Amino acid sequence: MIYTVTVNPAIDYIIQTPKLNLGEVNRPQYTNFIAGGKGINVSKILNQLDRPNIAWGFLGGFTGEFLKTTLSDEQIHSDFTAINANTRVNVKLKSETETELNAAGPRVTAEELADFKQKFDQVQAGDIVIFSGSLLPQLTNDFYLELIDLVVAKQAQFAIDTTGQALLDTLDKQPLVIKPNHHELADLFQTTLHDDDELLTSAEKLHELGAHHVLISMAGAGAYLLAEGHVYHSAAPKGTVVNSVGAGDSMLAGYIGEFTKHHDPELAFKYGLACGSATAFTENIATLNQINQLLPQIIIDRVR
Ligand SMILES: Nc1ncnc2c1ncn2[C@@H]1O[C@H](COP(=O)(O)OP(=O)(O)OP(=O)(O)O)[C@@H](O)[C@H]1O
Ligand SMILES: [Mg+2]
Repeated sequence: MIYTVTVNPAIDYIIQTPKLNLGEVNRPQYTNFIAGGKGINVSKILNQLDRPNIAWGFLGGFTGEFLKTTLSDEQIHSDFTAINANTRVNVKLKSETETELNAAGPRVTAEELADFKQKFDQVQAGDIVIFSGSLLPQLTNDFYLELIDLVVAKQAQFAIDTTGQALLDTLDKQPLVIKPNHHELADLFQTTLHDDDELLTSAEKLHELGAHHVLISMAGAGAYLLAEGHVYHSAAPKGTVVNSVGAGDSMLAGYIGEFTKHHDPELAFKYGLACGSATAFTENIATLNQINQLLPQIIIDRVR
């Protein structure tokens, strides 16, 4: 089984208005509520690829109810831990420029945290747990480390998509896959990456620190993959970007969904790119049809 973990999911409240006048009454032309959360995005793509998965995390209040209903409407198998506080709402203001107002997230009680940890009793050898996104304000990086220890103790594997020290701290526990984008990669080593050689040197360091497979996504410039002693590169397929939010989550889902099927990193990389770009080319998260349409365009070079 593949489990996705979104500790701090959100409803994304999308507001589109041609012009935003601060300090005045604005009348947006379009609004929508979307079930947000990076692990939830991963689950959506795994579903498209027909890979059984269960979404975990915390959900609470009327906002949590909305998310739960939306996920079940979208046939996403979820088993979130119920909390008393409201799941957050993030505002995505799309005008001449894009402005995001991302809330910190709810408080969870010690009992709710214990309930959540208990879910990990279900993890079995051979399972994969994908941890995505930031933690709740009250939690420290140790929370992910504790959960990872539970996974590793079951002889299951994990992947993690987070940033900075929280990501670095997990590397010696040997994640199956990590997927920083090129900006996150530079931030990890508090440096500027001037060219692809420098980028690959930093990616290689992440491998040396313990990550089995290192995916480096570069938005419209495609991606690199370091896996099993080789380095692969591909440009991104061509298309019109509609909304690139969740492209990275989709890439990670595509990679893991496929890799766990056949253990061929090159083919998994191809799906990762197709999933990432298909999501960038659509309003929300890509469908199987959109993913399949991009596959023939993706040509992977083995650089090393
Ligand atoms: N503008 C784009 N054009 C084509 N493909 C894109 C574009 N943006 C993203 N992609 C595809 O999605 C993959 C992941 O994108 P990106 O590097 O933006 O991830 P990310 O920054 O982690 O995204 P997020 O965290 O918002 O999900 C890229 O490697 C590429 O295949
Ligand atoms: Mg990302």
